[in-house]
Amino acid sequence: MNQKALVEAAFAMLPKAYAPYSHFHVGAALLTKDGEVFTGCNVENASYGAAICAERTAFVKAVSEGKREFQAIAVVGGREGAVADFTPPCGICRQVMAEFGGPDFQILLAKSPEEIRCLTLAELLPEAFGGAQLEKEDGSDADV
Ligand code: THU
Repeated sequence: MNQKALVEAAFAMLPKAYAPYSHFHVGAALLTKDGEVFTGCNVENASYGAAICAERTAFVKAVSEGKREFQAIAVVGGREGAVADFTPPCGICRQVMAEFGGPDFQILLAKSPEEIRCLTLAELLPEAFGGAQLEKEDGSDADV
């Protein structure tokens, strides 16, 4: 699948966003390594902290269907679904990307299907915390 098609799949999710509090609609489309696409939108809640971002919706859909390996995600957003600028993923979503995507995992930010910025996870979340940190044998503090 090409970048433009993945971005178009993210745009198609904007009308599904449930964002009555922020009015900021986000759509995402996540591409698995075997070429399948899982889409997502943000889903807000009257208890604001219970909101889930579009990117994590897509990851949760994919992982719960047995997918673990991913190539890329496209993300688009804008007030009431009108996209005027790039929408970089929030920090929590970057951390979720780090759980399932390697440093070369691609994040496609788009203003339109013709205006795409491609970043890697290594660029968006350098020095990520990951499972390797939990595997230290002696649990000692790092030298400072
Ligand atoms: N949002 C996303 O869906 N993805 C992001 O990476 C940034 C923020 C949503 C969460 C909330 O529903 C709205 O945008 C405003 O923060």
